[in-house]
Amino acid sequence: MHEHQNFEKYKKKGELDPEKLLETIFKYVGEIADERDLDKLLMLMADMGRELIISDRCTLWLYDSERETLWTKVAHGLERVEIPVDSGLAGYAVTNNEVVLIEDAYKDHRFNPEVDRQTGYRTKAVLVIPIKNQEGDVIGCYQAINKMTEAAVFSETDVKHLKLASTYTAKSLESAMLMAEIEETQREIIFRMGEIGESRSRETGNHVKRVAEYSYILARGIGLNEEEAELIKLASPMHDIGKVAIPDSILKKPGRLTDEEFDEMKNHTIIGYNLLKKSNRRILKTAAIIAEQHHEKWDGSGYPNGLKGEEIHIYGRITAVADVFDALASDRYYKKAWELDRILNLFKEETGRHFDPTIVAVFFESLDQILTIKENYKDI
Ligand code: C2E
Ligand code: SIN
Ligand code: SIN
Ligand code: FE
Ligand code: FE
Repeated sequence: MHEHQNFEKYKKKGELDPEKLLETIFKYVGEIADERDLDKLLMLMADMGRELIISDRCTLWLYDSERETLWTKVAHGLERVEIPVDSGLAGYAVTNNEVVLIEDAYKDHRFNPEVDRQTGYRTKAVLVIPIKNQEGDVIGCYQAINKMTEAAVFSETDVKHLKLASTYTAKSLESAMLMAEIEETQREIIFRMGEIGESRSRETGNHVKRVAEYSYILARGIGLNEEEAELIKLASPMHDIGKVAIPDSILKKPGRLTDEEFDEMKNHTIIGYNLLKKSNRRILKTAAIIAEQHHEKWDGSGYPNGLKGEEIHIYGRITAVADVFDALASDRYYKKAWELDRILNLFKEETGRHFDPTIVAVFFESLDQILTIKENYKDI
């Protein structure tokens, strides 16, 4: 958090002197230019705005034209906050591409006091400035609330300063938005690909999402870094993609498979591997390893290659635990979901046999989180 500096000094004066202003802008512009993560960028820009014009609160809203909303993140990890674009002062500024500068929100009919009612905060002075991209389209706005100086109102100079700040940062903001959009699209394609394998065997899209989330928790729990855990999370949904090539008569068989049928089923690992290995992309390479190795077992009795212990790639060992947990906890064509106790007993029995004991230990330590995910991504 960037706190107001030299606050007392500016309290009377009402604005930063030019030197301090430039210093503040350059301090943030450097950070902002380097920041690729959209959520962090939103917070950095809000901090910059707040510091520049000495406001109590500052929010950077982004315009979502499809949903007709403005959205933001107030703190990292928190859900988006979303408001309709056709109400409130921020909505007015974005819709009309107009600066809004008012002394007392409660005397303005455009103000929506609902947020105050919910938070107990008292909004008074408000300044909203639309942010435009290169083409001149409004992509969001700065909203500052309550001036922290004696005058307690925002001035034309504040407008100028906040505009300056938004000019310097609009480009970074736009590329981070584009990046977020691309990443979101990639994620969606990956899930859809995974679903192709799973949907035919009745597992819903939520199966691949749960496996992704479990795998992430297990990866972090055994000490892999954020980046690698994220990689596994992105790749693990594709573990069963090879099932696309398995005939329905086997995939959807209500009862137990014959040995021949199970042998054919085992091919889904090799099929998935061959499908994915051709790519040079890191996510797909990771997915290829997982598709091939998620049915290997720690004691060497798994398939397709009968690998043993650490011969099995760590990605395969992690996804094995996540996949079996989810398979047991869910209904399948061939079985009903198991009770939790029964599943936990199986993991206790199979540690060191089917599963890497280190990962099973983390599984038990993380059980609360895992059950929360199970609940959040329930099949309906
Ligand atoms: P799946 O349904 O996604 O199950 C993944 C893994 O979870 C299984 O790998 C197995 O290790 C574990 N698992 C699932 N259900 C049970 C269970 O009732 N008991 C135990 N002990 N473990 C269970 P596996 O066995 O290599 O199977 C791979 C895939 O083959 C399964 O994916 C499923 O699509 C299919 N499959 C396996 N057994 C049968 C069956 O009896 N009937 C049918 N129709 N399909 C089966
Ligand atoms: C807000 O303060 O969060 C939005 C309400 C408004 O812009 O009037
Ligand atoms: C297995 O065949 O190893 C487990 C699948 C089942 O028993 O349904
Ligand atoms: Fe599988
Ligand atoms: Fe699966």
